[in-house]
Amino acid sequence: MRDSRVGFGLLGAGLIAPFHARALQASQVAELIGVTDLDAGRMAKITSAFGCKGYPSLEVMLEDPAVDAVSVLTPNHLHYDAVMKAAAAGKHVLIEKPPAMTLRETDEMIKACQAAGVKACVSVQCRTRKAVQAIRRAAREGRFGTIYHADAYMKWFRSADYYRSDAWRMSRRSGAGVTIQQAFHYVDLLQYLAGPARTVHARMRNLAHPAIDLEDTLLAFVDYESGAQGVVQASTALWPGTDIRIEINGENGTAIMSGERMDTWKFRDERPEDAEIRSYGSAAVATGATGAADLGFQDHQAVIEDLAKAILSGGEPMITLPGVRPTLEWCLAMYLSAKLGAPVSLPLEDEKAIW
Ligand SMILES: NC(=O)c1ccc[n+]([C@@H]2O[C@H](COP(=O)([O-])OP(=O)(O)OC[C@H]3O[C@@H](n4cnc5c(N)ncnc54)[C@H](O)[C@@H]3O)[C@@H](O)[C@H]2O)c1
Repeated sequence: MRDSRVGFGLLGAGLIAPFHARALQASQVAELIGVTDLDAGRMAKITSAFGCKGYPSLEVMLEDPAVDAVSVLTPNHLHYDAVMKAAAAGKHVLIEKPPAMTLRETDEMIKACQAAGVKACVSVQCRTRKAVQAIRRAAREGRFGTIYHADAYMKWFRSADYYRSDAWRMSRRSGAGVTIQQAFHYVDLLQYLAGPARTVHARMRNLAHPAIDLEDTLLAFVDYESGAQGVVQASTALWPGTDIRIEINGENGTAIMSGERMDTWKFRDERPEDAEIRSYGSAAVATGATGAADLGFQDHQAVIEDLAKAILSGGEPMITLPGVRPTLEWCLAMYLSAKLGAPVSLPLEDEKAIW
């Protein structure tokens, strides 16, 4: 750690890498040390744009003492291998979502990081939005009363060219379908705000990308442990793509977040701070509805800085790998439910039955 700043090395220089690089560049507690990618051209774009080192391989990056933490930005099915190597080298990890493609791998990653004494954080950056934090506080304080409904609506669009831009983006087993590649964030918010889920009943279809063998549309009904119910609706078929909505309805209040903006915030017990909470977020901020790169880097910066502060202080980050495991379990349960055409209860008994 130089100048009390945590050094990050990026594994992967693809679509999401510049967002991490910009976030690191803007940070006072974390810094970008270097990057590695199998694709030399992609790596060179990051090294020249951000003035950082380029390493020939992950193994060489792990040998650099200036790298305290590795950001795992490879395709979903490759996260496991990288996390196991980074943990063995004593590096903290920031893993892009989903943490891995199976619960077995996720559990091994959790064990390996614990055994090595390194922090493991997952980039489910939507949790850091001010509107999400306000809803979470209200839920914890019981302001909603009994929560009746907790829903996520994601009516997005991705072109056929987006799917064709890389082989892994056309592979369900790599988590490229809408359920894991896009909706993961909003299932995670439901899990974070109203979970855990007890039973899910899902249907999956391909509406607008017939040449690609994965689901571009998910509809699921969920029963929560708490007794609340909800729906998850997610699609990349719905041109031009509109802002996500998270809706929580209880006996004493309703909160709706659109994109990152608090759209509705109404409780029977109006409080003085509610006026300010209603102003959280902005409709002008892009949150991915219309294209994979239509995003800001600020949410990533919040995740990275929270992890860096945990590393510096010895505490735990706000988003931990064990804390995101239930989101993966919920997503995998939806795949099994869609395959069986029947509700599936959690915990998920046999993940091998999914594919
Ligand atoms: N949090 C978010 O909002 C968000 C947004 C987009 C993507 N993601 C996640 O980020 C991850 C990467 O997605 P992407 O869209 O950037 O993918 P991408 O295909 O654009 O980039 C991945 C890069 O990893 C490189 N790579 C693969 N194997 C490697 C290896 N063994 N060593 C070095 N480099 C290797 C590839 O060459 C490629 O450049 C995925 O897990 C995805 O789900 C998260």
